[in-house]
Amino acid sequence: MSITKTQTHTPIKTASPDGTPTHVAVIMDGNGRWAAARGLPRLAGHREGASAVRRTVEAAMHSHVSWLTLYAFSSENWRRPQDEVSDLTGLLRSYLRSEIKELNDLGVRIRIIGERERFDAGIRKGLEDAERATAGNTLLNLNVALSYGARAEILHAARRLAAASQAGQINSAEIDETALAAELFTAGMPDPDLVIRTSGEQRLSNFLLWQSAYAELMFLDVLWPDFNAAHFAAALAAYAGRERRFGARPG
Ligand code: IPE
Ligand code: IPE
Ligand code: MG
Repeated sequence: MSITKTQTHTPIKTASPDGTPTHVAVIMDGNGRWAAARGLPRLAGHREGASAVRRTVEAAMHSHVSWLTLYAFSSENWRRPQDEVSDLTGLLRSYLRSEIKELNDLGVRIRIIGERERFDAGIRKGLEDAERATAGNTLLNLNVALSYGARAEILHAARRLAAASQAGQINSAEIDETALAAELFTAGMPDPDLVIRTSGEQRLSNFLLWQSAYAELMFLDVLWPDFNAAHFAAALAAYAGRERRFGARPG
């Protein structure tokens, strides 16, 4: 189905006056297919995907995007075969050892969103160290979504609000969007303006469902390990041409 829209009016709101999104979120998909196309094991695709992360961080900084959220591992990805899960956690462990210092030197502040308690103690410590070491940085806010699932996140928020209500700390009438958003992993962060998914799949796969309510979506026919600065720049240019309405009457 194709939807045609007439563009005869000016946008009511963009993330910043020059059309640069404040917050870009990326579903980094296609590592397995990249490897399969080369007759390589999936691990090779995941390794190459890790290099694309660095390129994307640098591209975001170059474009003055101040928030970048990368979907690296979903709550549902634990269901993959055990050997792939251990390949992925192994890569995460070595990434934490090798990349954090350089990201810190670039001025990147790292935060993890997701169920970090599902990782082993060594990885949890690596994640905490990365957050602590980079806490003073301001050039780019990098969120890495690890064992992240939006439905679990929203459920957790609902349970916390229900408990607060039961304890008499909040009146049910006071539970509004602000109160719920404050219980999400992304509390205090701006919503994504642009969500990019690579690999040609056109779905959100349980990513930032609450936060992306009005995000612009872009599905790119490039596999994540091939993603580069030119793809990022093209996505930003396409975003600048989009018209965001937020439900308001056009015109
Ligand atoms: C994305 O690539 C990485 C993770 C989900 C961890 P995939 O592993 O999903 O690659 P495809 O979709 O099978 O090509
Ligand atoms: C989404 O990709 C999760 C990440 C990119 C980390 P998947 O490959 O897991 O999503 P589905 O299974 O194709 O929906
Ligand atoms: Mg995939």
